[in-house]
Amino acid sequence: MPEDTQSPVGITLVGAGVVGRGVLAILDEQTALLKQRTGIDFVVRHVVVRDAARHSDLSTRHALTSDLDAAITDPAVGIVVEVMGGIDAAAAVLHAAFAAGKHVVTANKALIADRAAELFRAAKGRGVAIGFEASCGGGIPIIDALTRGLLGNRIDALVGIVNGTCNFILTQMSDNGWTYEKALAEAQREGFAEADPTLDVSGRDAAQKLSILASLAFNAAVREDDIAVVGIDTVQADDIRFARELGYTIKLLAIAERTGDALALRVHPSLVHDGDLMADVGGSFNAISVYGHAIGHQFFYGRGAGQRPTASAVVADIIGIATGVIPHAFGRLNIYPDSLGPARVLPFEQTHSRYYLRVTVRDEPGVFADITRSLGDNGISLSGVHQKEIDVAGASVPVVVTTHKATEAAMRRAVAAIDALPTVLPKTVCLRIVEQPTEYAEA
Ligand code: HSE
Repeated sequence: MPEDTQSPVGITLVGAGVVGRGVLAILDEQTALLKQRTGIDFVVRHVVVRDAARHSDLSTRHALTSDLDAAITDPAVGIVVEVMGGIDAAAAVLHAAFAAGKHVVTANKALIADRAAELFRAAKGRGVAIGFEASCGGGIPIIDALTRGLLGNRIDALVGIVNGTCNFILTQMSDNGWTYEKALAEAQREGFAEADPTLDVSGRDAAQKLSILASLAFNAAVREDDIAVVGIDTVQADDIRFARELGYTIKLLAIAERTGDALALRVHPSLVHDGDLMADVGGSFNAISVYGHAIGHQFFYGRGAGQRPTASAVVADIIGIATGVIPHAFGRLNIYPDSLGPARVLPFEQTHSRYYLRVTVRDEPGVFADITRSLGDNGISLSGVHQKEIDVAGASVPVVVTTHKATEAAMRRAVAAIDALPTVLPKTVCLRIVEQPTEYAEA
């Protein structure tokens, strides 16, 4: 990077998909603003694409190339921006950039979640930095908050809606009665979804983001595998409707909580009470609640997916690197996964939650007693029972049961016992009811 901040900062952009094009657009549109704020001219020297013909619309303003090595090693380039996605090929780009002494900005949460320690170590070994704000929460500056604004806090919990695609799908199903398939197709068309949308709907994308955020928040390396994951592909329209009738909205929540000296880590569809701020987070918006010992509850809300918001975070990192802010923190602070020990993880079976059960029963005498006995035998206390009236004697009918807090292990045993009842038609649907943590947990 040039010492003289008036010198241009050269950028190589690797990938010209949704996010890459958004970065080019912001740098083009805001050249004067960025110059005024930083004193720096940001110049995109190379846009690396596999097939230049497919990106011919960019060729009048940008130098398209498929020569990755030359684009990375160009002495006029100080920052390599990786927005190509994938893991192995993207990791190779980052290592090549480090070897050439270039800083990196990436939007690639799968890469950071999978390879953080290796990549951060390699970058530090070459005296360069990685900016990864765009990997979590789209345009929300949550990485900046965790690595700067909230550093004085012991974080007790982090709860987020961190996948825009899932939130968009659940919102459309809930508010507009769309089918799951229609909502997913629209999320793909809007550019929210991953190239492989099963990463979104399975909850894996959210788990990758949670692993990144929780590592920063709790000073312990959290791996994707540490996180229990249930996707939204398990959510049915009936449950969205019944939950609404009970005053809840279903959201895919990513949750990391300090419990004693371990972390409880999970991603799953969750019933959120309508009075909870999270219930109002609609469409592709994301929100992250952070609970710190000094700040109490802070709520970060904004567009969590899509071209412009994600590109906004990439551009913020380009500026942070060019001005030296990110490299300084990166080299100085012991908060990144390369300097953290492994997280102590509470096994999922031992985590506590309230539950929503939808049991399909034959409408016969004694059914409620059987269900409550199955729960009671496992130490689980009911908080409500709701049955829909039907007018066909003996037909099957949904019974919705809500419970007080219990462990996953107890609930699994109870659901197995319920599904074994002769009056029940398996499989019982089991979702978790999530209440926001209490502010100011015990020190
Ligand atoms: N597929 C991701 C989402 C993109 O829907 O949230 C942003 O990381």
